Amino acid sequence: MKQVYLDTFGCQMNVADTDRMELILFHSGYRRTQEKEDADLILVNTCSIREKAEQKTFSLFGGLKPLKMANPDLILGLTGCLGQQDGEKLLQRMPYLDFVMGPDQVDGIAEAVDRVRDTGKSFVWTGFDKEKAYTIPELALPKSPGPSAFVNIIKGCDKFCTFCVVPFTRGREKSREPEELYGEIRHLVDHGAKEIILLGQNVNSYGKRGLKNPIPFHELLYGVAKIPGVERLRFTTSHPNDFTRETIRAYRDIDILVNHLHLPVQSGNNEMLQAMRRDHTIEEYRDLLFELKSEVPDISLSTDIIVGFPGESDAAFDDTLKIMQEVGYSSSFMFAYSPRPGTPANELPDSVPLETKKHRLQETIALQSRLTAEQGKAFIRKNVEVLIEGRSSKPGYAFKGRNPQYWGANIQGGEETIKAGDTVTMQVENVSGHSLNGPLAREADSKDIPPRKTVARQ
Ligand code: 5AD
Ligand code: SF4
Repeated sequence: MKQVYLDTFGCQMNVADTDRMELILFHSGYRRTQEKEDADLILVNTCSIREKAEQKTFSLFGGLKPLKMANPDLILGLTGCLGQQDGEKLLQRMPYLDFVMGPDQVDGIAEAVDRVRDTGKSFVWTGFDKEKAYTIPELALPKSPGPSAFVNIIKGCDKFCTFCVVPFTRGREKSREPEELYGEIRHLVDHGAKEIILLGQNVNSYGKRGLKNPIPFHELLYGVAKIPGVERLRFTTSHPNDFTRETIRAYRDIDILVNHLHLPVQSGNNEMLQAMRRDHTIEEYRDLLFELKSEVPDISLSTDIIVGFPGESDAAFDDTLKIMQEVGYSSSFMFAYSPRPGTPANELPDSVPLETKKHRLQETIALQSRLTAEQGKAFIRKNVEVLIEGRSSKPGYAFKGRNPQYWGANIQGGEETIKAGDTVTMQVENVSGHSLNGPLAREADSKDIPPRKTVARQ
């Protein structure tokens, strides 16, 4: 049996792609190893969303070079978004690489490895296949998917936000057939998955392109919810413009659709939103959340924020702080703008000085910490429902998991009685960051758990 070492940078989509490569390679005779030194094949699945991700990749390869020099039989491949973006340039910069592939070639990973073995020559394999969705071959899983499994429902992105490389690195949108998705989800549930997280750069535009019998996103939600054994349903990432009223209704109707939504806002200022080509105003964003909150009152919201986009004034930045406060996000991913090659915003002068970007980023991080802490307080002494994901690394706690609103949870007790995949009730004693900590609730208290969603019926 040969061994493959896989490393992943970037988003959940890349994590899912790495899992797919592991699966395909497993059926070509490779076992995954955690030790680079033992590997016959090393794959680094890269990200190019911000410059920092690229720098991390190059420094990782700097460390891999000596392994290749010491063992010329070792195959070294670079896959993912940086591969699509820089192709041939990467082979020039790192001539010890055997191949460079883009995200659309993931299914061909076994072929790529064979080609290196057969020819001994390095190559670049990038580009897009319009016909192909991310089809997962019907292969037996090499390992349990775990209690929480991601399912890719759509590839690519057609939004072309001016700061973003994704439409260039992952190509045009294409949805996967619902029947194929239902089959994959049944397969995952049969192997222990309890929670399904539907994945895409913009899941809300599911069904617009590429389906034989198109169905909109909300219908897919109803379809997945019918599959026996799916105990929780989530999706990410959403785009405010494609988020429909029917999807809001689905939150209300589908019990297992948890009360959390990740809805990137990027900026709280209309001029910035326009320059970013988000195609909505902050008022429209607010109205959407207002409607959602009125249907699902205890929904928790998280977001993505970019500070220091070209032309962002102090006043425009203040608008971002304002929307964060108004919405009261439970958590946020916050980034300093990073110019990306080939994107429209790269043509604009990167006008906000680095120091200002850093300062603004610190301010958003500090505000988010306050918002998270405020919301965390509301959980103290309450019972929450937790899906157990595994053992906790927090000293004094036995298990970790998440509540429906996507807060982390660390649980004391239950060593003899609970296991990964169980849903238990815990009593929150204290909160650290975005995690709720406390003991398992006593049997009698478990009934106190509030309903998963407080639903306002019309
Ligand atoms: N600079 C900074 N952040 C970016 N993102 C995407 N492109 C850039 C960029 N050029 C952020 C956005 C997006 C998240 C995945 O990454 O907030 O929602
Ligand atoms: Fe990038 Fe915008 Fe597409 Fe998200 S919606 S992947 S930010 S282009």
